[in-house]
Amino acid sequence: MTILNETQQDAAREDDGKYLVELEHVEKHYGNLHVLRDINLKVKKGEVLVIVGPSGSGKSTMCRTINRLETIDSGVIRIDGQPLPQEGKALAQLRAEVGMVFQSFNLFANKTILENVTLAPIKVRHMDKTQAEREAMDLLARVGVDSQANKMPSQLSGGQQQRVAIARALAMHPKVMLFDEPTSALDPEMVNEVLDVMVELAHEGMTMLCVTHEMGFARKAADKIIFMADGQILERGTPDEFFEHPQTARAQEFLSKILTH
Ligand SMILES: Nc1ncnc2c1ncn2[C@@H]1O[C@H](COP(=O)(O)OP(=O)(O)OP(=O)(O)O)[C@@H](O)[C@H]1O
Ligand SMILES: [Mg+2]
Repeated sequence: MTILNETQQDAAREDDGKYLVELEHVEKHYGNLHVLRDINLKVKKGEVLVIVGPSGSGKSTMCRTINRLETIDSGVIRIDGQPLPQEGKALAQLRAEVGMVFQSFNLFANKTILENVTLAPIKVRHMDKTQAEREAMDLLARVGVDSQANKMPSQLSGGQQQRVAIARALAMHPKVMLFDEPTSALDPEMVNEVLDVMVELAHEGMTMLCVTHEMGFARKAADKIIFMADGQILERGTPDEFFEHPQTARAQEFLSKILTH
């Protein structure tokens, strides 16, 4: 299975070493809650970063600031060298470069699978409908759900819907993909079909930030792991460093909890 076509794979591999996502001294509060504390993070082109940490540690909030679904109080976020625009057309354009897949399947319920995938390329990228449909069918085939193209989302299994959500994000030709617990709402037997697509994307050079509790995926696909607790990045390292030699008591406790299940 390949998901990206050759041109996209070549593009993904060009300029390895350039930072696609940068967060510098990012701070955010929700009222009295200091939800992000001095977050510093750089993700290189083609790199796969896995974000782990206890519930409420700020993982989703951090992801949401990266495509500006959430604002920040201070600090800088850059995508491919460009600071995140405040609003307007520039923001819409930048957002189009960051694909996002959430825990809940947020497909448009009243549109077919094919329409779900073609909508944004036609509306935002002004792609010709025939071409958008051709690309969409190609992407749906690559994630293994092309036979479902004319169905409505509710007629698909959770795993199929989540693969459509990935195809929909990829249809915008994003520079970066953000995944926020994309498998945690799935029945166990459907988890792997989604993780397989993510592993394949990672191997093909897509730059990815993934919040996940799937430690098998983290070991297999991550270049780097960060561990967050209480709005801070407490640890960062390779999967081996993190899993074999966690430095902080918080991370050791977290790992002992999740690895015993
Ligand atoms: N819109 C909001 N308004 C106020 N507080 C919020 C809001 N969104 C999140 N929070 C709080 O911010 C903290 C971090 O939430 P966040 O969703 O980022 O955590 P998380 O690490 O993704 O947790 P989980 O593993 O449960 O998904 C939590 O205490 C949460 O209750
Ligand atoms: Mg979350």
